[in-house]
This record gives sequence, structure tokens and C-alpha cells, in this order.
Amino acid sequence: MKTRITEMLGIEHPIIQGGMHYVGFAELAAAVSNAGGLGIITALTQSTPELLAKEIARCREMTDKPFGVNLTFLPAFAEPPYPEYIRAIIEGGIKVVETAGRNPQPYMPYLKQAGIKVIHKCTSVRHSLKAEAIGCDAVSVDGFECGGHPGEDDVTNFILLPRAAEELKIPFVASGGMADGRSLVAALALGAEGINMGTRFIATKEGPVHDNVKNAIVAATELDTRLVMRKLRNTERVMMNSGVERLLEIEKQKGDALTIADVYEQVAGVYPKIMRDGEMEAGAWSCGMVAGLIHDIPSVKELIDRIMSQADALINQRLAGLSRA
Ligand SMILES: Cc1cc2nc3c(=O)[nH]c(=O)nc-3n(C[C@H](O)[C@H](O)[C@H](O)COP(=O)(O)O)c2cc1C
Repeated sequence: MKTRITEMLGIEHPIIQGGMHYVGFAELAAAVSNAGGLGIITALTQSTPELLAKEIARCREMTDKPFGVNLTFLPAFAEPPYPEYIRAIIEGGIKVVETAGRNPQPYMPYLKQAGIKVIHKCTSVRHSLKAEAIGCDAVSVDGFECGGHPGEDDVTNFILLPRAAEELKIPFVASGGMADGRSLVAALALGAEGINMGTRFIATKEGPVHDNVKNAIVAATELDTRLVMRKLRNTERVMMNSGVERLLEIEKQKGDALTIADVYEQVAGVYPKIMRDGEMEAGAWSCGMVAGLIHDIPSVKELIDRIMSQADALINQRLAGLSRA
């Protein structure tokens, strides 16, 4: 399938794997790129820029296809050495960067000078237009359904995607709630040029996480995520567990007085415990409502091939049949 996104990124299928903390390692990124999508390494999971350089080199050994790096700009209280991470990305020959979080504007000149395509992840039309204005090449439009940080506007993709299509000139992919060929065809119908998936890619054979995480996603329904840290304007959609129950209890008790220190235990240092050690009650980890649509653990190639053949059948059989009727 050819869209503005496949052309821009030099990939076969319009499917991107979003950056994911403690999931976006070289194994997953390479598997997605080898299957014809765009795999993405998550920069900040590597605790230093030197380790990111090694992870990029490791991924290059596993694929000769293009892959990208996610650079998440965290809230101001945490400030990793972004210029050094960017140097590792440029010196590693990366040509696509997914930015997320705060506005990437201060770093745009460095990325653009290096010939890098920048895809900024946005949860609103307002932020998407800003990304377009500062020179981003594309945006990933993340609806309220998404795993991770859906922003504070709570607009679902059925409205957000066509609104983005009304306003944007640069191409965009649909992110949040994407699982299968139905998602891809719906996203294309709403104006997107492809899809970005997070949660769905975790539950794959190559997903470099503990089996407990994959099984928890398969077992979960669309009712099993919760929103946390809303009062801090840092809302995150996470999988329900006893750590999250405790977090929600603290949020209720503290009300408007809540600070990040109050919930530190439930949100800090949780990812390695969950993703690596499979301690599923350890605290808050991002997971999308799309868990309700995830019923198996295929290989990445099986998943991507299935999405593309399902999309093809939908377009050429069901939809074509309806329009002829
Ligand atoms: C476990 C997990 C960790 C994530 N970590 C990050 C991250 O570090 N940076 C980022 O930009 N997005 C992160 N995301 C968001 C994804 O890149 C993607 O936007 C989101 O998962 C899309 O929604 P979906 O899960 O419904 O597919 C994460 C998502 C998950 C599920």
C-alpha cells in the first residue's frame, strides 16, 4: 500500500510502532522494520546517550530496513541530556525521529540539518498545527483511547482524526486504539495516511517483555484501563492493577493538593519491574483501551501481514461490495 507516509519514510506498509518505555528495544524495532513497517527504538529507555548509540548499532545488525528513534521530552522536572541523545541519533545515521511530550522546537534545527524526518506525537489539533508550523514533517495524532499520555482534552479518534484532516497540510498517522485491518481502513477513511500502534505490538512474539505482560494484555478487556495523574495535568492511561488502585486512592484522598511526590512510589521505577521482571502489581504502566481487541500473541510479521490482508479484503470486498449495491 502506498500513502504519503510510506513514501516519506521509505517503508512498505503504513504501520509505525510507537516509542514505548522498556519495550522499544532493538529486537522489536528490527522485527517491525523487517516486516515492512517502521520500528522505533525508545531513546530514554537507554540510560545514557552512549547506550542509545549501542542500541542503534545493535538494531542495524538485525535489519537493513529504515528504523527510527523516539525522543520523549519529559515534563520540566526531569531533564535528560537531550543534545547528547540527539548527537547519538544523528551519528547513528537515523533518518526518522518520533518526538513526543513537550514542544520539540528547540531541537528542530539540529534534526532538520541532519536530514531527519520528524514525526511529532500530538493529542490535539492545536498541537498538530503547531508541529506543522515549526517544521515537523508529519504528526502522529493520538486519540483519548491511547495507551500512555492522551493529553487533557479527551477527544476520541472518531472526531480527532477528521478534525486533523480538516486542518493539516502535512500527513498524519492515526494513533491510539489501532489493532488490525479494520483500524487501518477506518484511519485511512478518516483522513490518516497510516497507523501508529503501541499496545498491540507489546503482545507479539518479539515483544521484548516478560510473558506476564503479554498475557495481561490478552486477558484484559476494553474496560480495564484507568486514567491516573489527571490532577497533575500529566494524565496517563494505564492498566488496572493493585498498585494503580492504591494510586487512585491516594489521588482521591489528596484531591487538589496532590503532588508528584504523593504518587512517586506507584509511578517511579515501575517499568523494569513490570516489563522485565513481570511483577504485574508493581504500579502504573501504560496500556491502551485497545487491549480489548487483542486476543493473541502473533509474531510481528504475522501481525503486520494480517493487518494488510484484512485491510485489503475490507477495501476490495466488503466496502467495494457495499458501494456497488
Ligand atoms: C507500555 C507503553 C509505553 C509507552 N512509552 C512511551 C514513551 O516512552 N514515549 C512516547 O512517546 N510514547 C509512549 N507510549 C505511547 C505509544 O508510543 C503510542 O503512542 C500509544 O501506545 C498508542 O496507543 P495504543 O497503545 O492504543 O496503540 C507508550 C505506550 C505504551 C503502551
